Amino acid sequence: MKRRVFSGARPTGRQHLGNYLGALQNWVKLQEEYQCIYCIVDIHALTTLEDTGSLQKNIHEMMLDWLAAGLDPKKSILFVQSHVTEVMELHTLLSMVTPLSWLLRVPTFKEKARLQPHNVNYGLVGYPVLQTADIVLYKAEVVPVGEDQVPHIELAREIARRFNNLFGNTFPEPEAKLTSFPSILGLDGKDKMSKQLGNDIELALSDEETIDRVMQAVTDPARRYRDDPGHPEICNIYRLHQYFNPLQLDEIAKQCRSAKIGCVDCKMLLAQQINSTLKPFRERRAALANKPQYIKDVLADGAYRARVIAQKTLKEAKQKIGLL
Ligand code: TRP
Ligand code: SF4
Repeated sequence: MKRRVFSGARPTGRQHLGNYLGALQNWVKLQEEYQCIYCIVDIHALTTLEDTGSLQKNIHEMMLDWLAAGLDPKKSILFVQSHVTEVMELHTLLSMVTPLSWLLRVPTFKEKARLQPHNVNYGLVGYPVLQTADIVLYKAEVVPVGEDQVPHIELAREIARRFNNLFGNTFPEPEAKLTSFPSILGLDGKDKMSKQLGNDIELALSDEETIDRVMQAVTDPARRYRDDPGHPEICNIYRLHQYFNPLQLDEIAKQCRSAKIGCVDCKMLLAQQINSTLKPFRERRAALANKPQYIKDVLADGAYRARVIAQKTLKEAKQKIGLL
């Protein structure tokens, strides 16, 4: 039996280069070695969303990107969190074995409470409990995530351990598997690439739009004039060359340091490399976009397969507690 992987992402709509290099590519690879379950966590999104009107569109756009990137519904279970309601029941049960003090010291909770002081809702505090329910409902052992999620997975381990100690061994303690790529910076060269910050490059852009976006990127501020020598090691465009243009990397660094290449040409080169790398992805995506019913079918089938596992685990948990 292959070991089971679970991971989730909030329905943010069209995915960007940071999502692709940071998570998606890794998820695609894991499909070969593990039984993977990938989930669009729409209930988690409700903890911060004030406008829920674009949820369905965002789920659809995100699925298009996932499938075009190579997540394969024949190999993996792809589904939407709210379609398998068992997770909310398990969330309630797990909330009874989770001390409030554990939740109040989670860094992401403190951060969100700071960012949305007008909306520090109950669900926000319970966010990691719901995340734990996501994982243990499928008895997943491995959870591929970014650095920022490590405290959540630690908490998931503690909640699973606590449940097991109280009611008997039920859930494996999940393990975080960090993605090997460091987080990708946005076009501002400062913050992590993020849709919210508007510093992202969407995968689904056209070639022209990609060039446009790349041209807006901040480069080495020391290069104010064309003849100023540059410092590729601090330049975000150079970092992206590392992923999309590895063969020309040394040459670009040399030419940047000696001011032989200007930033505009360097960016054009990068944009072209991004476009040629993403060409097959974009073709697959365009084909899928013409088949909305197929996307619905994939998600319905994913939910069905997820539910079969979920019902079994939930029943076991309830029996252990003494509810059945
Ligand atoms: N909290 C994760 C994030 O913000 C998303 C998530 C929800 C998740 N449930 C999960 C990730 C379970 C891994 C496993 O990115
Ligand atoms: Fe960055 Fe390229 Fe400009 Fe050098 S030439 S500063 S690597 S964009």
